[in-house]
Amino acid sequence: MSEPVQTPPTFPRRIFSGIQPSGGLTLGNYLGALKRFVEKQDEGIETIYCLVDMHAITVWQDPVKLRQQTREAAAGFIAAGIDPRRSILFNQSQVTAHVELAWIFNCIARMGWMSRMTQFKDKAGKNSENVSLGLFAYPSLMAADIMAYKATDVPVGEDQKQHLELCRDIAIKFNNDYKVDYFPIVEPLIEGVATRVMSLRDGTKKMSKSDPSDQSRINLTDDADMIANKIRKAKTDTDPLPDSVEGLKDRPEARNLVNIYAALADLAPAKVIQDFAGAQFGTFKPALAELAVAKLSPITGEMTRLMKDPAEIDRILGKGADQADAIARPIVDKVYDIVGMIRSRQV
Ligand code: TYM
Repeated sequence: MSEPVQTPPTFPRRIFSGIQPSGGLTLGNYLGALKRFVEKQDEGIETIYCLVDMHAITVWQDPVKLRQQTREAAAGFIAAGIDPRRSILFNQSQVTAHVELAWIFNCIARMGWMSRMTQFKDKAGKNSENVSLGLFAYPSLMAADIMAYKATDVPVGEDQKQHLELCRDIAIKFNNDYKVDYFPIVEPLIEGVATRVMSLRDGTKKMSKSDPSDQSRINLTDDADMIANKIRKAKTDTDPLPDSVEGLKDRPEARNLVNIYAALADLAPAKVIQDFAGAQFGTFKPALAELAVAKLSPITGEMTRLMKDPAEIDRILGKGADQADAIARPIVDKVYDIVGMIRSRQV
């Protein structure tokens, strides 16, 4: 008799993603991640969203500010449409399975893989001897975040692609080393027109919460005047908008503003170009500012309201952590078993 054909297990679809509470949320976080987290929640697949405070401390964080920023980010998620009754929302440090699995993944990942991470190289710069060991191991903790839930789909912006490829490599090596089909091979969901929102001051640089210039980004806490002002002052060239998307090719700042408009309005960039073909920035920028204020102000207002009750935010995060723990605990316990640890405590 021939050997039965082994089919790899299929994993139920489960979505996981995270955001660092290492500063305020930006328009990049909103369009590249948060807005899409809400869309995924509304597709009815199980969604787990995490404020990755353990990742945040890979660079120095003031403890008082970290707590404040974590609550503010949670308020941002809820204000943007994450419903804690339909998605699990929690902060990473409350679920210890993440760091436990991260250690095991530190023993799976290879130094060479980690050394190739461009985000580490960018963040460490010329100072790589002096950055934390945590910053180097960062992508291994990220893989653990995802695999602690056997998540299959991870919505992220473009800058996280390499980290997700590493997550796949770690899962494959774990499965091979221990001859199991235990971890799924994750699918990065990098979709839409805003997978890389650029700085308002330099169309070749990513919009980032760590950019020293506040003018370079729109924060979810900015009021209407600040948003309008930042868009008015955004760097552009002097030409009018072209009549086709191809005309944006060598115009990074113009392309960025068109993409932001398209993402906020849920339109294709081609439609935005069709509507504004030949327009000067003197016309386009006020239209963009009006749209941005209309879309973001309700979120900012709701965030401010939620922040008045920090105990309620903490309660939501605690409840989310209980739900997350109930999923992650047995998955990580089984990993201990697979790698050969004795687990004999009576609890
Ligand atoms: P973080 O906190 O830097 O960013 C959170 C999410 O926002 C996206 N993003 C952007 N998207 C478009 N344009 C931009 N300018 C922009 N800036 C940020 C990011 O791609 C990301 O999706 N390592 C992650 C956090 C993390 C994580 C995870 C993500 C930890 N564990 C597990 C997914 C799964 C990070 O630093 O994201």
